Amino acid sequence: MDSNNMTGDSKAIVTNQTGIHEKLDEVVQKHLAHPFQKPYQAHTEQAFEEMDAFVQAFLTNNSAGEIILDACCGVGQSTRILAQQNPQALVIGVDKSAHRISRNVEGFSLEDGYQANNYHLVRADLNDFYRLVKAANWPVSKHYILYPNPWPKSKHLQRRWHGSAVFPQMTSIGNTLILRSNWLLYLQEFQQAAKQVALHGNISQVNSHDEVSTQPPLTPFEAKYQTSGQVCWQLILNR
Ligand SMILES: C[S@@+](CC[C@H](N)C(=O)[O-])C[C@H]1O[C@@H](n2cnc3c(N)ncnc32)[C@H](O)[C@@H]1O
Repeated sequence: MDSNNMTGDSKAIVTNQTGIHEKLDEVVQKHLAHPFQKPYQAHTEQAFEEMDAFVQAFLTNNSAGEIILDACCGVGQSTRILAQQNPQALVIGVDKSAHRISRNVEGFSLEDGYQANNYHLVRADLNDFYRLVKAANWPVSKHYILYPNPWPKSKHLQRRWHGSAVFPQMTSIGNTLILRSNWLLYLQEFQQAAKQVALHGNISQVNSHDEVSTQPPLTPFEAKYQTSGQVCWQLILNR
């Protein structure tokens, strides 16, 4: 998938599942029962240490400050928007793609009038980064996961975040988790899995691109799906 493709021809998700994966509860149980202990990769450990220094300095100077985590941030458009919308917060955008993280985002330069500097983008693998955030106990208020890779084939359940070994740690981060996807079933599965970690919430439609909304799309993928006439969905989970 390429977020550069803004021509409005994004294909709708095709899956061989007819509903929630029949192994979902079993897989989540397994990951809750057996903590994920794979060693951390050095590059993510280093990336985390750099971000942790920013977070600790921010918390020292802002005792009531909040941290917002933008996981799978891609080019970081949402990270920049969230930073602007939440000037009191420090926003950390994480993506494993160095190529995406380092790309310029149109409309967000000083010449465009964008001035927020309360954010950082970092290249890291969230399978490790989430565990490091959890261990460091960052006070994350909002945790965004916008348009994660869907992995729609049934056999790829464990590549979806709710089927991953890091699910227990990832869902322990943030008072509120906000997920968006153009695949409703992904969010329905996440919602069901989240019940096992006492997180509850509802799914609604994202209205950022309709005629009555003044909200621009949060991410390039959101823009692409909506220009193609696809519905985008949002799951908001609270403790
Ligand atoms: C479909 S893109 C969405 C990007 C962005 N949120 C948007 O909506 O434009 C999914 C992103 O997740 C990132 N990603 C997938 N697995 C990851 C992992 N284990 N750690 C960090 N980033 C990951 C990919 O590099 C990719 O940029």
